[in-house]
Amino acid sequence: MISRSLTILETGRITRQSDGLPREFEIAILGPNYLEAVLKVQEMVLGTIEELSFYYPSSRQIFHESLNGKGLIIGCLVEGRLVGFRSIWYPHEHSENLGIDIGMKAPDQLSEVAHLERACVLPDFRGNRLQITMTRHAIELARHNKCFRYIFSTVAPMNYASMQDKFEANMVIVELKKKYESYYRYIFFQDISDPILFPSEPDVPLIYIDGDDIDAQMSLLKNKGAIVGFQQKKNNGITQVGYAKTNHHLF
Ligand SMILES: CC(C)(COP(=O)(O)OP(=O)(O)OC[C@H]1O[C@@H](n2cnc3c(N)ncnc32)[C@H](O)[C@@H]1OP(=O)(O)O)[C@@H](O)C(=O)NCCC(=O)NCCS
Repeated sequence: MISRSLTILETGRITRQSDGLPREFEIAILGPNYLEAVLKVQEMVLGTIEELSFYYPSSRQIFHESLNGKGLIIGCLVEGRLVGFRSIWYPHEHSENLGIDIGMKAPDQLSEVAHLERACVLPDFRGNRLQITMTRHAIELARHNKCFRYIFSTVAPMNYASMQDKFEANMVIVELKKKYESYYRYIFFQDISDPILFPSEPDVPLIYIDGDDIDAQMSLLKNKGAIVGFQQKKNNGITQVGYAKTNHHLF
């Protein structure tokens, strides 16, 4: 049963891992009454995470704000039950605004920042690329409503699925630093109005660095915006990040 507080964006079928059978799903914008369901999915996913440094839980307060106008939460429902979500938060003047991390100072720019916050999919419904699908809807919606210009996200190095989610949304790595109680995080960024584009000239080389070589990546990213990370690939089982020069200047 679908609640009336939902705006349906997409319907279709996905596979449930435990029995391999297709299930009907809806992707929808969640209303404020989904706060407890979102927290429950986060709690269930947290209980299954092997590498705890990959996921720093969002607080009830941030989810509450996202569901009540200071952001957006896209959910995936199967038979009326929430099985995954992707949250966006507009931090405005909050001290955690990631614009500050890359040198943004002007209040009007900081107020145009959106954070792709958390994405969780229950293990039984993974493998359907739900995170990427929900992210695509979230960005399209926010772009359509013109509620932000600069999009940011933090991702733990070596979290392949989350990095893929950001690269497929055309975001690039502009920074690698310690966040969240000293865990390293990439800062992914894109300017919707003036995007940092993949270099089209064939003579711009991509420099590939092993994802777990933190020092090498940090030194490459020192001149903010001059070199950014555009893609990842697997090389003999090791995830490598491809960096290239850009003409873009950050703030
Ligand atoms: C991250 C998460 C939301 C992705 O779920 P999902 O959308 O079902 O992801 P899928 O299983 O469809 O995988 C998407 C891609 O990542 C790849 N992938 C998934 N897990 C992977 C892993 N552990 N190692 C390498 N690749 C992986 C898949 O092969 C797929 O890539 P492809 O499309 O190129 O084949 C889910 O795993 C999750 O809830 N994790 C715990 C919470 C978390 O880490 N959230 C992200 C940080 S906020």
